[in-house]
Amino acid sequence: MHHFSYRRGVSHASVLHAEDVDLSALADAVGTPFYCYSTATLERHYQVFADAFAGAPDTLVCYSIKANSNLGVLASLARLGSGMDVVSEGELRRALAVNVPAERIAFSGVGKTKEEMAFALDADIFAFNVESEEELRGLSEVAAARGKNARIALRVNPDVDAKTHHKIATGRAENKFGVPFERALSLYQLAAELPGILPVGAHMHIGSQITDLEPFRNAFALLTELVGTLRDAGFEIEFVNLGGGLGIPYRNDEAPPPLPTDYAALVKQALGNLGVRLLFEPGRMIAGNAGILVSRVLSVKHVGAKTFTIIDAAMNDLIRPTLYEAHHEIIPVIGPARGTPNVLTDVVGPICETGDYLALNRPLPELHAGDLIAVMTAGAYGAVLASQYNSRLLVPEVLVSGSQHCVTRPRPSYDDMLAAERLPDWA
Ligand code: LLP
Repeated sequence: MHHFSYRRGVSHASVLHAEDVDLSALADAVGTPFYCYSTATLERHYQVFADAFAGAPDTLVCYSIKANSNLGVLASLARLGSGMDVVSEGELRRALAVNVPAERIAFSGVGKTKEEMAFALDADIFAFNVESEEELRGLSEVAAARGKNARIALRVNPDVDAKTHHKIATGRAENKFGVPFERALSLYQLAAELPGILPVGAHMHIGSQITDLEPFRNAFALLTELVGTLRDAGFEIEFVNLGGGLGIPYRNDEAPPPLPTDYAALVKQALGNLGVRLLFEPGRMIAGNAGILVSRVLSVKHVGAKTFTIIDAAMNDLIRPTLYEAHHEIIPVIGPARGTPNVLTDVVGPICETGDYLALNRPLPELHAGDLIAVMTAGAYGAVLASQYNSRLLVPEVLVSGSQHCVTRPRPSYDDMLAAERLPDWA
């Protein structure tokens, strides 16, 4: 469910709107390409996820900032009481900047620097997800030196197949994440002896865009077993962090993935009686369908039997199709007249790489130079992965709420881009 739909517009009978905002008018005001996020959709997804656990023991939803770290997006979620999952000092600073209480912030990531550990300890965050013995020892040193205690959850790698794209599966033994299940107990025992470390939780995250509940079921069973083993060994486990990973619908022609309520039923069944607080780190599930990328057609090129629709957005603005063979629905912003034929086309950007495409062999209503298109489901892992490749200006982000909009991250100017760099004296 999202709040992007066709309605009667300012100058056209049928125009794609973000909530009450006419996207054709917005494109004229902001210029293209740009990301557009819907507050109502963000709020709905957060609420649907949080409400799915009604009746479960104490839960804390820590939105995973990496999916979409726009301050407007974070502030909208913080207002609903969302906690945050951060993986760097930069993300932690973003969470604090929108007044997320530190006791709702969890720090994940396979490589934290000592400086990041110190910053997070000083902020008194809820907990660190620790991924190795080396990290545990490093965190202990930093914490002890500051007279602080780091509450930790060990991230355990369950070696389950999440059945997702290989670049976003994290729960196999060959992945860099977490510690092997068999080593967990001995590492908790080490953690208990180290100064400045309080081993109070357990963590698992097996991958992203998971569309089958089975891998979760297997992972949760192992987590339950782990909590039992730890309790038998005398540990007081207060919380279990189940990570993120729940998939979302990207295609109109495929069966939708399990609903948050299905996922929640599984969680309650597997972990509901453990008497622990449950943490979650959903990212895509909250932000994915709440954002689109709006772009304008520069030209349509015919080469033999092929048609290329060349647009002003490119792989540097949205890299998911190139990096993960990801499918994003593409629709025209101005609703096509009835009877407009579909044409098979590659939708490509201006970048000098063959991998620069947003869709291949896609049936789309015939498009012309100047037309606007919307690339759907681009709210998660879209703008956050954007770069200035080919010295293209970083794509701006606009947050909509009802009939209002705010350019939460403006497009930089070319002067801004050049001013960010220094020339060496000798050049
Ligand atoms: N927790 C941890 C420890 C994670 O590593 C991640 C995502 C999440 C939570 C949030 O997962 P989600 O609920 O969003 O699935 N760029 C890729 C996705 C990378 C996911 C990285 N980790 C993509 O565009 O598909």
